Amino acid sequence: MPNAYISGTGGYVPPRVVTNDDLVRDYGIDTSDEWIQKRTGIKERRFADAGVGSADLGAEAARIALDDAGLAATDLDMILFATLSPEHHFPGSAVYLQEKLGLCDAGRFIGCMDIRNQCSGFLYALGTAASMVQSGACRHVLVVGGETHSAALDLTTRGRTIATLFGDGAGAVVVSATDEDRGVRYWKMGADGRFADALSQPVWDIRKRPFIPLNEDGVGQVSTEMLWATMDGRKVFRHAVERMCGAVMEACQSTEVFGPDVDLWLFHQANMRINQYVAGQLGIPEDKLVHNIDRYGNTTAATIPLLMAEAARDGRLQRGMKVMCVAFGSGFTWGAALIEW
Ligand code: ACO
Repeated sequence: MPNAYISGTGGYVPPRVVTNDDLVRDYGIDTSDEWIQKRTGIKERRFADAGVGSADLGAEAARIALDDAGLAATDLDMILFATLSPEHHFPGSAVYLQEKLGLCDAGRFIGCMDIRNQCSGFLYALGTAASMVQSGACRHVLVVGGETHSAALDLTTRGRTIATLFGDGAGAVVVSATDEDRGVRYWKMGADGRFADALSQPVWDIRKRPFIPLNEDGVGQVSTEMLWATMDGRKVFRHAVERMCGAVMEACQSTEVFGPDVDLWLFHQANMRINQYVAGQLGIPEDKLVHNIDRYGNTTAATIPLLMAEAARDGRLQRGMKVMCVAFGSGFTWGAALIEW
């Protein structure tokens, strides 16, 4: 059985920086830099321009990851795209990315799959990719986490609790087969559907007839409760710290790689306070954690691959290191993965 290792990483964020002060000045949101930084650690985030979608951001990140791996897009056997903000409800984003990477023109009609697991989406996709490679079904799987949140945020005072948290961006890795003794050593995912409504964006309800009510002119009407994401912030916080700690402890017990043996910790970037609490509970020293929430906000499925790409570029991530990833998000879903780099 081959091992599945990360042969290349790439990250991309759109150029437009939106600071906390910009949310006040340009969008008129009743908030402050102090409030946001104190509760979340976020200083600024990136917003994509109109006309740019998650597959566009993903394509930029994917090209960098392929280049880093020394591969051409035509070497890929599969694309997995983790996102909660796909171009369209269906067919999602992965097929758009395939076309953008030139695979259709090259006659490489490889499998493309969207993974819809929100903030845990990248780890769900990573585990899926590793299994595909280890089974021998694929040699190179492109895994992308990409989000364009800015188009679907209520950027008014009404939506401030959620709108101030999120940003746009994409990260990508190539998961490749190797006979070397390295790669994804462990992954385990979890979910608790009892909390499906605690963080959700219904937009439409497929149980209704029609699924979006029409007005007398036949135009679809989506109420603001359906249009924007809703979140029980305190519930999310409580469950996030509990599940992230639990997922890490289970990973350590299963792999017998314990805290001091881990060289680098990559936490999903939802909220600096969540991560500081989890790190404190687990006794993880600050110098083994990397963050980007201060610069990008919560980029959901993109946070961990963006961290990987940045840490690989700045030398924090070195061959042979043991890297523990952990995430929690809407669903509730969560997961952990241990990678020997
Ligand atoms: N600026 C100013 N005031 C605000 C803002 C804002 N951006 N957002 C909310 N407030 C106000 C509220 O309206 C409320 O005012 P009121 O007392 O007059 O009603 C007050 O601040 C307190 O609101 P709470 O929601 O109780 O604030 P809380 O201290 O719980 O902080 C927060 C909110 C930061 C969202 C917190 O609950 C949290 O960190 N939760 C975790 C959720 C999270 O990180 N989600 C990310 C997505 S999920 C994921 O990726 C895992």
